[in-house]
Amino acid sequence: MATLSLQGLCLLLLLTLEILALDCNKTAENQLRVNNPEVRKRMEAIGGQQLPQECLYKRPTFSFPEEKILRASKEGKSVAVKMILEKILKIFEHNFTQAGWDPRTVALLQNALYQQSNQWKNCSTTETGEVATLKERDLNLNLLRYFRQIQTFLEGQQYCLCAWSVVRLEIWKLFFVSLDKLLNRF
Ligand SMILES: *[C@@H]1O[C@H](CO)[C@@H](O)[C@H](O)[C@H]1NC(C)=O
Ligand SMILES: *[C@@H]1O[C@H](CO)[C@@H](O)[C@H](O)[C@H]1NC(C)=O
Ligand SMILES: *[C@@H]1O[C@H](CO)[C@@H](O)[C@H](O)[C@H]1NC(C)=O
Repeated sequence: MATLSLQGLCLLLLLTLEILALDCNKTAENQLRVNNPEVRKRMEAIGGQQLPQECLYKRPTFSFPEEKILRASKEGKSVAVKMILEKILKIFEHNFTQAGWDPRTVALLQNALYQQSNQWKNCSTTETGEVATLKERDLNLNLLRYFRQIQTFLEGQQYCLCAWSVVRLEIWKLFFVSLDKLLNRF
């Protein structure tokens, strides 16, 4: 009896994992085909990839752990995507007055990022409901460092126009180069 229920439990677990995997493929597909274009539209409305000439000298290099992300497990990738969306959302919560962006446009972008990060909830949660952050700890730390670099830069430049232009371009590349690549190899 006990053995039977254990087997039943294992079967259930396998089925759940299978459903989760299917779900995550769909989430990744949706992120690539629907969500990313929405973010692109919102980002274009606040200047897109523009980098004013006078801001070129201020460009630091931020170390995005691209290779590590591409090599991560599916679960690791899911956790990473969710984290990236949340961190970008956080960046746009800082004072962008000097960038001169329309607050309503930024609010739409924030709203899109918030909803998108929610769509990744099920994929970055293990079957016990625990948020899967312990695995791929190294990748996690690398991502945290990357976003801290961006935050420190913005702060150090006192959220000036150039700093925001540089960060906007960085996020553009992150979204439409790195994230695209990741989602295509999900
Ligand atoms: C998810 O997609 C990958 C490749 O894109 C594929 O290898 C895998 O079988 C898919 N998983 C499911 C459960 O459909
Ligand atoms: C945002 O920055 C502007 C200009 O730098 C400043 O005048 C304003 O007080 C700041 N707003 C907040 C909420 O800190
Ligand atoms: C996540 O899973 C819960 C419960 O299994 C479900 O109700 C919810 O619709 C799912 N959310 C998404 C975005 O798939």
